[in-house]
Amino acid sequence: MPDPKPPAPAAPAPGGWSGRFSEPVAERVKRYTASVTFDRRLAEADIAGSLAHARMLAATGVLTAQDLADIERGMAAIRAEIAAGTFTWSVDLEDVHLNIERRLTALVGDAGKRLHTARSRNDQVATDVRLWLRGEIDALAGQLAALRRALIDLAEAHADTIMPGFTHLQVAQPVTFGHHLLAYEAMLARDSERMADCRRRVNRLPLGAAALAGTSFPIDRERVARELGFDDIATNSLDAVADRDFAIEFEAAAALIMVHLSRFAEELVLWSSPRFSFVRLADRFCTGSSIMPQKRNPDVPELVRGKSGRVIGHLVALLVLMKAQPLTYNKDNQEDKEPLFDTVDTLADTLAIMTDLVATGIAVDAARMRAAASEGFATATDLADYLVRRGAPFRDAHEAVARAVRHAEVKGVDLAALPVAELRQFSPLVGDDVHAVLTLEGSVGSRDHPGGTAPARVRSAAAAARRALPEP
Ligand code: ARG
Repeated sequence: MPDPKPPAPAAPAPGGWSGRFSEPVAERVKRYTASVTFDRRLAEADIAGSLAHARMLAATGVLTAQDLADIERGMAAIRAEIAAGTFTWSVDLEDVHLNIERRLTALVGDAGKRLHTARSRNDQVATDVRLWLRGEIDALAGQLAALRRALIDLAEAHADTIMPGFTHLQVAQPVTFGHHLLAYEAMLARDSERMADCRRRVNRLPLGAAALAGTSFPIDRERVARELGFDDIATNSLDAVADRDFAIEFEAAAALIMVHLSRFAEELVLWSSPRFSFVRLADRFCTGSSIMPQKRNPDVPELVRGKSGRVIGHLVALLVLMKAQPLTYNKDNQEDKEPLFDTVDTLADTLAIMTDLVATGIAVDAARMRAAASEGFATATDLADYLVRRGAPFRDAHEAVARAVRHAEVKGVDLAALPVAELRQFSPLVGDDVHAVLTLEGSVGSRDHPGGTAPARVRSAAAAARRALPEP
C-alpha cells in the first residue's frame, strides 16, 4: 500500500503551527484566546527582550552578524511605528509577541523568522511582564515618596494642632493632627519597603527557559540578564515559565497600599462631613448633588475607598489563577495581565490624586478639632496618670476618675471645668496643680517619648521621616 498523501495544511496560523492543524481556528475562539487588545502594552518590553536575545544569539554564533543587523533595523522601525500609532495590531496574530515577530519578518525577511531560535513565548512573556512591572514599580516608588513628602509637610505644619484621637470611633485621648498624619506616613514607608523588596524578586530573568526545559542551543543567559538590567537569572527553567508569584507579591503590596489609602480616605470622608467639620476639602475634589443643593460630596476619597476593592479583587484573581495549575506554563497565565495593568493604573492615579489632595486640597479647621478634643473627657487618662504619680495604684486611680467623669457628665461639663475641691471628692490625692494635666496642651505635651504625640516629638519624627525619603 502506498504511503498516505500528507494532508494539505490549514491557512497559516500566526505562531507557525499550521502544519499540525487541519482547520482554522473558529472566529469566536480566536477572539477568546487573543490577548493583543491588552498585552500590546508590553510592546516596549517585548522589543527590548527580543533585542537582548538576538544580540546574545549573535555573540554565541547562533545568528549571523547580518541577521542581527536586520533584526535591529526592523525593531527600530517597529518601535517608530508603534510610537507614531501606525503599527497595525491584529487579533489574527493573537498576542503582542506574534504581532511584533510577524511585522519584523515582513520588514526584514528570514532574520525575523530566526529571532525565535532558542526561545519560546513562554519564557518571552514571563520576561516581558517582569521587565514591564519593574519599570512600573520604579515609577510607583517615586509616587509613594511624593505622597509621603506631602504628608510630612502637612504634619509639620500641624505639629501643634490638637485633635481628638479615637478608639472605637469615640474620643479617646488628645493627639496632634501632625501625629495622626505621620501614622499614615509610617504605613506608606513600609509600603515603599515592600515594593522595593518585591522588586528584587521581580528582577530575575526567565529567558533561556524556552518552552519549559531549556534549549539545546548554546546560550548565555548572564549576558541577556546584564543587558536587560536583571539582577540575576531564574535558576530553574520550569519555575521560570510556570510561576507568577512575583506578580502576586506585587498585587499584595499594591492591595495593602490601597487599604492604607482607603482608611485615610474614610477619615477624610468623616472629617469633612458637617458633623465633624475638621477639614474642608477643596472644591476640585468634591461634587454637588443633582437634587440637594446644600451637598458637597467627598467623591475623591469615596472612590479611593471604593477602588481599594478592585485592587484587592485583582490580588485574589491572581491567587486563584495560580492555585491549580500543573507545572509548567498554561494559557491561564494570560489572564494575569489585565488585573496587573488595572492595578498599576488604579494605584498610579490614586497616588497622584491623593498627593495633590494632601499637598493643596485640605483646609484644616483647628478650632473644630480642638473643640471636639475638649468634649468626651479626652484627658481622663491624664488625671488617672496624675493620681498614679501621687501614689495611687493605677486601677484605683482609674476607678476614681471614672466616678469623676460620671459626675461631670451629669453636670454637663468637661473634667477641666470641675473645681479642685470637687475633683478632690473622688481622690484625696488631687492637688491644686491638677488642672495642668487636664488641659489639652498638658496632655499632648506630656507624651514626650519616641513615638509619642508631643509636638516636639512630632517635629523630630517628621524630620526623621523626611531623611528616610529617597532622593526626589
Ligand atoms: N499570550 C500568552 C500569555 O500571555 C503568551 C504565551 C503563549 N504561550 C503559549 N504556549 N501559548 O501568556
